[in-house]
Amino acid sequence: MVKEDILILGLETSCDETSASIVVNGRDIRSNIISSQICVHQKFGGVVPEIASRKHVELINGVIEEALTEAGVTFREITAVAVTYGPGLVGALLVGVSAAKALAYALNVPLIGVNHLEGHISANYLANPDLQFPLLCLVVSGGHTDIVYIEEHGKYQILGRTRDDAAGEAFDKVARALGLGYPGGPLVDKLAKAGNPEAIALPRAYLEGNSLDFSFSGLKSAVLNYLNKAQMKGEEVNKADLAASFQKAVVDVLVDKTLSAATEKGVKTIIVAGGVAANGQLRSQLHEEAAGRGISVQFPPLVLCTDNAAMIACAGYYRYLKNDFADLTLNAIPNLKLS
Ligand code: KG4
Ligand code: ZN
Repeated sequence: MVKEDILILGLETSCDETSASIVVNGRDIRSNIISSQICVHQKFGGVVPEIASRKHVELINGVIEEALTEAGVTFREITAVAVTYGPGLVGALLVGVSAAKALAYALNVPLIGVNHLEGHISANYLANPDLQFPLLCLVVSGGHTDIVYIEEHGKYQILGRTRDDAAGEAFDKVARALGLGYPGGPLVDKLAKAGNPEAIALPRAYLEGNSLDFSFSGLKSAVLNYLNKAQMKGEEVNKADLAASFQKAVVDVLVDKTLSAATEKGVKTIIVAGGVAANGQLRSQLHEEAAGRGISVQFPPLVLCTDNAAMIACAGYYRYLKNDFADLTLNAIPNLKLS
């Protein structure tokens, strides 16, 4: 470590992962500790906000200590503390925000508030620090489906967003209907590998004109109707075919609209962010179709697609360079927008 190195301690507690990370100069991940609460919430079929908050309180100090130990650094060496302050579950966010404020105050270092979605986008800068702007980002998480034009670090224009369910939410709801469990996305992804994506005709919502908005609720209803009808007729459902057909219907629309947006904006590089960026079909289909149009696509490695604090530390680094600091009045904002 040299004196000029910028060491950001990142904290992430917006949903069901308690995570702390040390990232040096916005690109070198020294540690990225992720304590997942999945097993705790699994029996409820989804995240229980009150339990998530309590678990974050129990876990946060140990996770921070582990992040420091693994990185081989002490509190005294930290340049700034970056924390997710929204969007997310308010009680969960508050745990990270309170810990970050206490640390920034005690260590007398800057505090940086990070938008969770900017964190997801920044996972791409960690994986590929030399990406050239402008970029087009498809943000696909449990709560968001956005097409974002990025002119430079921190400068965003939302070109399209979901009007109802987010892509990850649709995966989770369909997984539940198929009896696969929680979180549903990875389980649908796995099951779909054994199915035929052309087996069952399902709708794709393109919406009016050249809209870059999304809607997945009709597709979700179509899957539920298909299951109900089969049950009423006493017919066996081929779950792998249904998973593959559903996944293909989601991915077709995501890929078409993202490529239309890139062409419209004349952008040559697409990045993908959020948990659904881990989806196998999305990764292969977007790569393939973009290559045909001379557009390159970058995905973060799988561990950086879902919630983690390294992406928050990286986003914090670029805010640090702009002296964009928060004060100790920083609060959790559950519906924080990307602006
Ligand atoms: O970004 P993320 O970890 O948390 C939020 O900020 O929401 O995304 C979680 C979402 C969940 O809906 C999960 O089912 C979905 O990402 N997901 C996937 C895959 N892995 C995670 N969806 C489809 N395929 C996957 N492989
Ligand atoms: Zn997330």
